[in-house]
Amino acid sequence: MASSTSSSLFKLATFTLCLGILFGTSSGQLTANFYARTCPNFRSVITRAVNSAVSSEARMGASLLRLHFHDCFGCDASVLLDTTANFTGEKGAFPNAGSIRGFNVIDTIKTQLERQCAGVVSCADILAAAARDSVVALGGPGWNLVFGRRDSTTANANTANSNLPAPTLSLSGLISSFSNQNLNTNEMVALSGAHTIGQARCTTFRSRLANDNNINASFATATRANCPTSGGDNNLSPLDATPTRFDNRYFTDLISQRGLLHSDQELFNGGSTDALVRTYASNQATFFRDFASAMVKMSNLNPLTGSNGQIRTNCARTN
Ligand code: HEM
Ligand SMILES: *[C@@H]1O[C@H](CO)[C@@H](O)[C@H](O)[C@H]1NC(C)=O
Ligand SMILES: *[C@@H]1O[C@H](CO)[C@@H](O)[C@H](O)[C@H]1NC(C)=O
Repeated sequence: MASSTSSSLFKLATFTLCLGILFGTSSGQLTANFYARTCPNFRSVITRAVNSAVSSEARMGASLLRLHFHDCFGCDASVLLDTTANFTGEKGAFPNAGSIRGFNVIDTIKTQLERQCAGVVSCADILAAAARDSVVALGGPGWNLVFGRRDSTTANANTANSNLPAPTLSLSGLISSFSNQNLNTNEMVALSGAHTIGQARCTTFRSRLANDNNINASFATATRANCPTSGGDNNLSPLDATPTRFDNRYFTDLISQRGLLHSDQELFNGGSTDALVRTYASNQATFFRDFASAMVKMSNLNPLTGSNGQIRTNCARTN
């Protein structure tokens, strides 16, 4: 997410294109066995820490998945950096402020890995693996990961503000936000299924409660009780009816007009994505398959590789 100048974007694009031609992928030099010699146990360290965090608090699985999403759109761990004299961190960007969480879990994992293999495993790779392990811990599908992402030396709060989709977006706004990252409409719908886990703050759906008429009446009444017209901004509501289980309930909820965010319900509102929502609502295996392959694609967007970036020692700071 940190990419800033058009020339560095151009270099990255050219580089990625060349490798894409060579290997038929757009994931740079990422490989499955990247740490095989340098940190052979890194996966079990991450999985153990994620399982332990999720068993103390199931929502942490959702928070770790979202952290990786907000980092991607350029998976370079820029989302983890605190603000410095030189740049404003992404933690304070509008979609993130008071909202993204899970930094402690990432820091715990990083500390353990630094003890085993100092300076080897990137924070960006930790985020990618923790997101996958979180989905699995909550009953969702796994996918094959590749590694070798490096960490950015800067962050860009403006890019975070402009690239991350807002809950007020229309269907066409959602489609273009994802297509800007090379993710097509079907992938956008599958990835939105991440809202089968986790919670949202009242401030992100209050205007849906006030203005949308495509909202289930009994759902609206129950949700308004916890999200009044003024006050209670930080009150949480579940994004679907089974927020600690990674299943396809999100999509069946959309069909009964129980989407929590305006952007959620846009996926089933008489438009071009209704059919795919119905498919996922009636076939969880299809959703799992499509979600896993879209996650692989999102996880591999514009990584820093080779001699670009660095391996941070502390995920919150550049070295
Ligand atoms: C389609 C466009 C999307 C929009 C507009 C959107 C927006 C939001 C908003 C507003 C929240 C609540 C934040 C808060 O109250 O602080 C949220 C939560 C969440 N989002 Fe999204 N999101 C989108 C796509 C995604 C994607 C692609 C993923 C992951 C692959 C994802 C994963 C999550 C998760 C897991 C949560 C719950 C986090 C928690 O409980 O800590 N979202 N999203
Ligand atoms: C800011 O950037 C300068 C020049 O690149 C560098 O020397 C300095 O250490 C940076 N400061 C911080 C707080 O990162
Ligand atoms: C509202 O939700 C209930 C319970 O899920 C469901 O039976 C009903 O069909 C929904 N109404 C609409 C208009 O979808």
